[in-house]
Order: sequence, then structure tokens, then C-alpha cells
Amino acid sequence: MSNNTQAWTKSSWRSFPIKQNPSYKDQNSLNKVENKLSMLPPLVFAGEARKLKNALAQASNGQAFLLQGGDCAESFSDFNAINIRDLFKVILQMSVILTFAGSCPIIKVGRLAGQFAKPRSNETESIDDLTLPSYRGDIINSIEFTPSKREADPYRMLEAYHQSAATLNLLRAFAQGGLADLKEVHQWNLDFVKNNELGQQYEALANRITQALGFMEACGINPSTTPLLKETDFYTSHEALLLPYEESLTRQDSLSGDFYDCSAHMLWIGERTRGIDEAHIEFLSGVKNPLGVKIGPDATKDEIMKICDKLNPENEAGRLNFIIRMGADKLKSNFPPLLKSILSEGRHILWSTDPMHGNTIKAINGYKTRDFKNILSEVKAFFEIHQSMGSYAGGVHLEMTGTDVTECIGGLQAITESRLASNYNTQCDPRLNATQSIELAFLIADLLKKQKLEML
Ligand code: PEP
Ligand code: CO
Repeated sequence: MSNNTQAWTKSSWRSFPIKQNPSYKDQNSLNKVENKLSMLPPLVFAGEARKLKNALAQASNGQAFLLQGGDCAESFSDFNAINIRDLFKVILQMSVILTFAGSCPIIKVGRLAGQFAKPRSNETESIDDLTLPSYRGDIINSIEFTPSKREADPYRMLEAYHQSAATLNLLRAFAQGGLADLKEVHQWNLDFVKNNELGQQYEALANRITQALGFMEACGINPSTTPLLKETDFYTSHEALLLPYEESLTRQDSLSGDFYDCSAHMLWIGERTRGIDEAHIEFLSGVKNPLGVKIGPDATKDEIMKICDKLNPENEAGRLNFIIRMGADKLKSNFPPLLKSILSEGRHILWSTDPMHGNTIKAINGYKTRDFKNILSEVKAFFEIHQSMGSYAGGVHLEMTGTDVTECIGGLQAITESRLASNYNTQCDPRLNATQSIELAFLIADLLKKQKLEML
């Protein structure tokens, strides 16, 4: 039975059943790390999380759109400024493509600066005769397949914290220090994208923006009169899976007295850990950040309403984002009746589509991959279902990178299963590469434009 009569504290989750939790052999070291983390500075501030919540409230009312994306899992070994910069640039490119089409603000939320812990379907992994604990993300253990490297090591949480701090430092500099200036719109196009069809389509749009900026400048509107032209808001998010880490970074805001999980602006709960009487829902119910919850094909109305009651009892707009990830086929059959029944309850919900996690397949050569056409098919159906019910498709959640990987098949680049091996680099799930991300942004832009026209 649940302990849900007990008052929330940042450690109340500890008396609830928990899934996907690593077992640390050395409790003493775990306690030391938790104490250390709880003394380190917060990574984000409560006021920033509130600002994001207000922006998401606009999206849930049909006046903005959420673009959330990044690696499936960040890693310690691939951590460098170039990767962060290129992901940032591609998100900016996608955001201008979407802004242009939808004429509405695009809320940019990276899946980074903390996206290290992974839920796993199997507790263990076997290679030949050896069976070891599964890899659970760099914040927990190592991907290397040896008994000692697969042990859960609490000190990895400190490394994840410091990497997140450095990542955020760079992101803040990019967002405010000139790279996000609209005048740089051509610079965001990455070299390996520039010469392909998508890069050129983007160039054409960038030319129109540059032209519009010239016109505005002549009218006296420039970055000195309008600072918004030269900077942007960029937020961070990750799955709040490893609760000892999240608890240690939870702080009481001195202005409001409320608790915020200061490891990221927005946190989400995964499909496997959203049980209503379980630890993850309990923990996140008490922090005031905006929250996402992943929703798979078997979710019921009853589960979703209970999540609304527990995570958003005051029905505050911007607090709750349902991230629907059913897979293209199941979305078409299972989502319409579910959405219909929930809409009748009058809750403030921001609806996003994650077209990645329900569309994972195994390629002939054993690689985990996703087909661009299924990704697009899920996104399209998501928009159509919302429109048919007078609801608003308010966001997209993607696994993507600013590099030139070959992890998802298809798209205009026509990556084939046999080409996957040429640059398959992910730590966990297959990501859209920079070109595929831009291609998807153009296709979503059409859907957004259509949605906007239908709302008039
Ligand atoms: C993820 O976003 O990487 C993930 C594991 O998602 P889900 O909880 O939807 O399976
Ligand atoms: Co994933």
C-alpha cells in the first residue's frame, strides 16, 4: 500500500516502492556523495523554472510550441564544447524554421546538462558466458563490459554534476553572448549540412530573415533597441530517474518558500517509472518545476487522471506536459479515445509528441534504429488527432544530435540499414542527425502552419 498520507519532504520518496533504482554496494560512499552534492551550488534557479512554466502555459493555450531535444544519454567520453555548440545550433535552426511557419514563440528545451540516467528493460546483459548488470547511464555505471565497471559507483554523480555545470555555463554563454543573435542565422548552418538539400532550404529561409532584419533595422528596430534579437532563452531538462541525485539538488526557494529540483529547469518521469504509488511520482509531486510525463500505448484514462491529481492538484497551466510516445501505429488506434476522454475533464495539459521511443526497431545487422518515415508518420498523426478534437499539439520531444551520425534510417539522406555502421555512436538509443533534424523541422513547420490556420 502507498504511504501517500504522509507529508511530502524531499526524501519522502524513500518510503515508496521504486523501479529502475541502482543498488549501491557501498552505502557509506553513497551518503558522502549525497552530502557533498547537497552542499554544491544549484545548477538552475527557481526564477528560471518559473519563467519556463509561464512559457509552457502559453504553449498549453495554443500560443507557443515546445521544442525539446538532445541525446538519448549524455556521456562522459563525448563531452566537449563542439558537440554542445552544434546541438545548440541545430536547435536554433529548427526553432527559426518553426517560428517562421507557426508565427508563434518556440520554447527551446535541451535534453542535456543532466540527461545521464537510463531506465533499462533488462536488469542484466549477457555476452557469451558472462552476465553483468546492465549499463544504466554514465551517472550510474560504465558502458564497459567488465564486472567492476558495471558496478554502480556513487562518485559518478559528482562527475555528472560537474559536467552539467560546465555544459550549462557554455549554454548560457551561447544563449546570451552572441551566438543566438539572429544576425548569425547563417552561421548556425553546419558545414556538413550546408551543401545538402536541407541545408540549402535552410539558407533560403535564413536569407529571408536577414532581409527582414535589414528592413527592421531601417525602421529603427535593432539589437540595441530590442535585445531580444540578440539573445534567447534556452532551458535544460532530463529524466528525473536517479532520485538520490535529484533529492540532493533540491533546494527551498528563498522567495516563494517552495521546493525546486535545481538540477534542471524541467524534469520528466519515464514511461517505466510513472506508477502513481511509486517513488518517482512522489518525489516530483513536491517540487515546483514544470514536469513532463511519458505516456506509452497502454496508458489508461484513470492512470492519467491520477497523475494530474497528484502532480498538478491546482490545475496550473504550464505545470504538466504529457509526452505521448506510442509508436506510429498504436498512436493512431489508442490515442484518439484516450485524448477524447481526457479533454472532457478540462485539465490544463501541454501535449507533446515523442515520435522516437515507440518506433525503435532492430536493423538486419543488429543495430537499434528508427525509420524516419515512422517518426514522421507519428508526428503527423499526432497533429491530425489533436485537430480533429479541437485540441492543440503543443510540442515535440526528440532524440537528436548536432553531429553527422548514422543512427536512424531514411529521410532525404536515405540512410540505409547497411550504412548504420559507418557512424553509429549513441550511448543508448538512435538519434536523428543534424540533417534529419532539420528535415523534420521543415515537415513539422507545415503541420504547425496548418494548425495555426485551423485555429483562426
Ligand atoms: C527516453 O526518453 O530516453 C526514455 C527512456 O523514454 P521512455 O520513458 O518514454 O521510454
Ligand atoms: Co531514449
